[in-house]
Amino acid sequence: MPRAVRDIVLMKGAKKITAITSYDYTMASLCEKAGIDVLLVGDSAGMVMLGYENTIPVTMDQMCMFTGAVSRARKNSLLVADLPFMSYQTGTSDAIANSGRLIKAGADAVKLEGGSAAADTVKSIVSVGIPVMGHIGLQPQTTMLSEGYRVQGRTAEAAASLVEDAKKLENAGAFCIVLEMVSHETAAMITDAVRIPTIGIGSGAGCDGQVLVVQDLLGMYEKIRPKFAKRYMNLSESIVDSLQSYKRDVESGAFPAEENWFSMDQGEAEKIGR
Ligand code: KIV
Repeated sequence: MPRAVRDIVLMKGAKKITAITSYDYTMASLCEKAGIDVLLVGDSAGMVMLGYENTIPVTMDQMCMFTGAVSRARKNSLLVADLPFMSYQTGTSDAIANSGRLIKAGADAVKLEGGSAAADTVKSIVSVGIPVMGHIGLQPQTTMLSEGYRVQGRTAEAAASLVEDAKKLENAGAFCIVLEMVSHETAAMITDAVRIPTIGIGSGAGCDGQVLVVQDLLGMYEKIRPKFAKRYMNLSESIVDSLQSYKRDVESGAFPAEENWFSMDQGEAEKIGR
């Protein structure tokens, strides 16, 4: 049975939460098989699936398509989908309508970026019954524009401000908060300060769970290699090796072979001189 938001909340302090991004049916099926708790259809899809420089161009139509594909593979995990840039910043009714679109596409919950300033938006989405995951620290949709990729919460003052953001999101009804590239001390402080789980990415071991972009974990995305993204394999190398073997086989005539093709009945083949 698919996990519910409540199951994830209850994991705080009991068991670490595993989350992974997912954008397509095949990969989501494998994540399911591995028993991952949360499948996140992140707007990082814009970069790793669509080749944009950042997440800003990602549209609602694209997020709905990725969410639908992942939902068809989903069995036991909780499926969370990102609200892309400008799908919720333009007002409460847009935020609710676009969250509804992601739920209709197959998500169980939506995620949006922003601290205290996003609390009212979170509250309105939650008020119509849609669970919301918060996202503070580095916020790729906007931090990138002002600061670039920089670790967040590195001073006592910044830590206090992030704790305040997390508490506001919790009070607004968020069920969970992603902490992206937050110093590990601040991330642990936030985790202790709220009753809802925190899921870290580049934020250390003190969080209630971890999330990684699946292409980073598998060693498939070559453009950026964040320090925090542990590579469990170098899949791009294996893929390129396999593709080169295929090319060699086709060029040499080694592929396809008899086991890869279909034959006519003997009599029929003779009629066409084969
Ligand atoms: O879009 C995404 O993949 C994310 C994760 C990095 C948390 O928001």
